[in-house]
Amino acid sequence: MTLELHKVTKKYGELTVLRDIDLIVRSGELVAVVGPSGSGKTTLLQIMGTLDQPTAGTVRVAGQDITGMPDRRLAVVRAYHIGFVFQQFFLNPTLSAMDNVATGLLYTGTPRQQRRERAAEALASVGMSHRMKHRPGQLSGGECQRVAIARAVVGRPDVVLADEPTGNLDSRSGAAVAGLLRRLNETGTTVVVITHDDRLAASMPRTVRIQDGVIQ
Ligand SMILES: Nc1ncnc2c1ncn2[C@@H]1O[C@H](COP(=O)(O)OP(=O)(O)OP(=O)(O)O)[C@@H](O)[C@H]1O
Ligand SMILES: [Mg+2]
Repeated sequence: MTLELHKVTKKYGELTVLRDIDLIVRSGELVAVVGPSGSGKTTLLQIMGTLDQPTAGTVRVAGQDITGMPDRRLAVVRAYHIGFVFQQFFLNPTLSAMDNVATGLLYTGTPRQQRRERAAEALASVGMSHRMKHRPGQLSGGECQRVAIARAVVGRPDVVLADEPTGNLDSRSGAAVAGLLRRLNETGTTVVVITHDDRLAASMPRTVRIQDGVIQ
């Protein structure tokens, strides 16, 4: 599945955060997005992932123009095509790892029993079968991020968008998370990762560098 941004501009009032961005991420790519703090990386990822809309320009997800699409239709596009991973994990602290992952399937209308089976599979794929009943507060940071990755992939998305997924982790957990993303890409998922880690970026086949809202 291809993600296409054409002449995307994002403004907050007078502030132009992204300027005339043209970017195509093709099916099966593994892309690092790098750039200084405040350069517009997160804004770019949120627009690519339909969580935010551009002020001008067009965004196509799997050939479909999503600009101006109503929220409930965007939620469906996301549920079937896009998984997200964030630096701060954003897990629900009151739910077990299993239930956090199973909620990733709510919008797909998958029956409850099947949601649980798929969640268990996804947790197994990130090496977390032994912690399915733990809540986020009972898990390490690296374990939380593995649960968040399981939640991102449980719907078998075509694309995973990760915003500094290793930013809050020690180097060993970070390497494990980077390895999971790489493996995910090897099995056919398109992966876009924002990172401040130069080594991680250098190890990826493609790097997109952004500065002051412009791709270099
Ligand atoms: N909702 C908003 N309202 C106003 N300004 C915003 C908003 N969101 C982001 N910005 C501004 O847009 C710019 C780009 O923000 P963005 O979060 O995309 O940067 P970033 O490259 O992800 O930075 P970091 O590496 O620190 O995460 C920043 O200057 C930020 O202050
Ligand atoms: Mg950011």
